[in-house]
Amino acid sequence: MFPTRRLRRYRKSEGIRKLLSETEVLPSDLMYPIFVWDGRTEEIKGFPDQKRWNIDDPKLFKFLEKLFERGLLSVLVFGVATEKDEIGSEGWKDDGAVQKFVKKMKKTFPEIVVATDVCLCTWKKDGHCGVVENGEIINDKTLEYLAKIALSHASAGADIVAPSDMMDGRVKYIREKLDENKFFNTLIMSYSAKYSSSLYGPFRSAAESAPAFGDRSTYQMKITQSKEALLEAYLDYEEGADIIMVKPALFYLDIIKTLKEKFLIPVSAFNVSGEYSMIKLGIKSEIFDEKRIIYETLTAIKRAGADIIITYFVPEFLEVKIFS
Ligand code: PBG
Ligand code: ZN
Repeated sequence: MFPTRRLRRYRKSEGIRKLLSETEVLPSDLMYPIFVWDGRTEEIKGFPDQKRWNIDDPKLFKFLEKLFERGLLSVLVFGVATEKDEIGSEGWKDDGAVQKFVKKMKKTFPEIVVATDVCLCTWKKDGHCGVVENGEIINDKTLEYLAKIALSHASAGADIVAPSDMMDGRVKYIREKLDENKFFNTLIMSYSAKYSSSLYGPFRSAAESAPAFGDRSTYQMKITQSKEALLEAYLDYEEGADIIMVKPALFYLDIIKTLKEKFLIPVSAFNVSGEYSMIKLGIKSEIFDEKRIIYETLTAIKRAGADIIITYFVPEFLEVKIFS
């Protein structure tokens, strides 16, 4: 007449609940994306509480220092162009914004892990992630430029380079270029399962990287695919990727889980700008409680299997105000 097993015993007090907790997000699980450029620090339209930072802005370094004091260990750097051209040559300039910023970061915070996004879309007029010829994205020509960017980031001191372009064969090409130049210890975090998603809008306004024509559907994965995500991850693994990524995160928790189960290398998940913005708007409209929704979001991504969570919610999670 009594229930044989009372699961509510597991929930009877805060102490018991904490003791039995399976998944807790730690500050060291997080990677914080930041946008830097040679222009002035400014707000980003349609991307609440994020900034385009000037690479020397003392406020940025103060702000980062607070995050690091609270346990954040790594950042993912995105460059914003001041001069775009047909091939994206600002992307691999030794004195480009990303390169200068990475040097400064490694000097100021030597123990912090600095990852850099490697792609052409921000640096090129057409906004595509690959070289464009007659309206087509040319895979193999793109690889050389991506490798130049990756090498210049590694030379500046980046610990991790993260190609986000979705061209075939880029991990192998970049690995070879890094090794030839003796950057044996620079990791490659590959955006392996990157979907052609509707959730990148705020990012594109931050990086001014929206494609000038067409869309990214000939290189990013169609949202219907799951076996293909495995294949992408498998190829990146074979080509030497050190970390594989799933992007976006929240609508793709199944993919995170599968990659975590099938691969022995770390999996990262990118909680992208659109996911951030919709939750942020919900918080601002008082639909969600800020602390609880962010905790739930990040916990879900970790529970699915992400070893690294790339998220704009780092300041909120660590309770650091952006300009304090
Ligand atoms: C571009 C790139 C994108 C993001 C990271 N690198 C967007 C895109 O494919 O246009 C998205 C990040 C985000 O939305 O937060 N290579
Ligand atoms: Zn791109």
